[in-house]
Amino acid sequence: MPKIKDITCHKVLNSRSEWTIETRVELDDGAVGTQTVPDGASTGENEALHLEAQKAAAVVNDPLKDLLVSKNPFNQLEIDTLMIDMDGTPNKRVLGGNSILSVSLAVSNAAAKSLNLQLFEYLHVLYKNNSVFKPAYSKMGSINFPTPVFNILNGGKHADNDLSFQEFMVIPAKTTPYPKQLEMGVFVYNSLHKLLVSQGYESGVGDEGGFAPQGFTTKKALTTIKQAVEEVRVDGEKNNRLVLGKDLFLGMDVAAESFHVGDRYEIKEESLKLDHAQLSSYYGDLLQQYPIIYLEDPFYENDIEGWEHFYQNYKQKVMIVADDLVVTNAKYLKAAIKKNLASAVIIKPNQVGTVSETLDFIRLAKSADMSTIVSHRSGDTPEDTFISDLAVAVEADFIKSGSPARGERVAKYNRLLDIFDNFFGS
Ligand code: PGA
Ligand code: ZN
Repeated sequence: MPKIKDITCHKVLNSRSEWTIETRVELDDGAVGTQTVPDGASTGENEALHLEAQKAAAVVNDPLKDLLVSKNPFNQLEIDTLMIDMDGTPNKRVLGGNSILSVSLAVSNAAAKSLNLQLFEYLHVLYKNNSVFKPAYSKMGSINFPTPVFNILNGGKHADNDLSFQEFMVIPAKTTPYPKQLEMGVFVYNSLHKLLVSQGYESGVGDEGGFAPQGFTTKKALTTIKQAVEEVRVDGEKNNRLVLGKDLFLGMDVAAESFHVGDRYEIKEESLKLDHAQLSSYYGDLLQQYPIIYLEDPFYENDIEGWEHFYQNYKQKVMIVADDLVVTNAKYLKAAIKKNLASAVIIKPNQVGTVSETLDFIRLAKSADMSTIVSHRSGDTPEDTFISDLAVAVEADFIKSGSPARGERVAKYNRLLDIFDNFFGS
């Protein structure tokens, strides 16, 4: 049985020119796992706390290394529990959620390498076996492959424009195979680019690769995306079109945390200051006009009444997705399930800080019949494709990795292509 031989960590850059960390875990059989850590901009207040990169690297290089050298890398639960206990705080503020996460993920990467398994295969076994690797596992057969959610127009904290809502997304029909879904995303992205330029708008992009034009409102964004879909000619063929509401649907990550002021929601570009009932009606109006199937963080995390009423009234009409509300933490998810606040959850390992806690959260969400969406962060790195393997391993319903552009976004989509074509293709 191999053991952890060495752990080292250093600073590297993310896609937003911020410092993050990269951790390297080496086993005594020579297997090596490396892992960088992403960072969010619109973070939930209960997320694991990230230390400044230099401090986080020092934590990995000293106390975490001492804690874990000679431990069994196949017992992910033990590795994670040791770090959680050493930290001793609910939000990992002593050792840092980023330090702990980088080690947790790098250990699983190294363990998969040691067994000569693909990372998604290894994570699947952890997922099925309470985060401990069992040698007698069965290979994954045909699976429910995650559907990509493409964020093609950016606002909120991810762009310097005046759109209050953070993400405007297109979502291919779930029945379409992944490579075709990806092609659809690319067609619509390029069509939107052309349309914006033809209308005299800037074609610069936001943090997640979606366009970030000035002078847009929510409706203008949705209408422009609708038009971009209508103008697609698949492979340049005149009669080969994409139909919104059939081939593709719309979604939004409102990230309401970023524009609530007190108990009001300020949609500045429309000079609106809405309470939660008025914001619900605002959404209701959009749901009638556009084929929106996905609405993430429609209210900020402490507006429980807003969530409750919206869920009661709209759960049949749209998937209501919780991100900042539950922060990949089973404790907050339990409360959301009890109060009936959402029908789907975002999964971002760096919100909670370990592989085991992330897998616990996913098991709980699935047991409550919630849809699952594995997600990148707005500050991300091209080296990190962990979420692609994770989404496949747990058969997540969706994966969010921004637009099909920018290296750090594309890396995740390409890794999924690699997995699909080489392990699940026809
Ligand atoms: P973040 O945004 O990574 O900046 O938090 C992503 C999201 O809100 O889903
Ligand atoms: Zn979100």
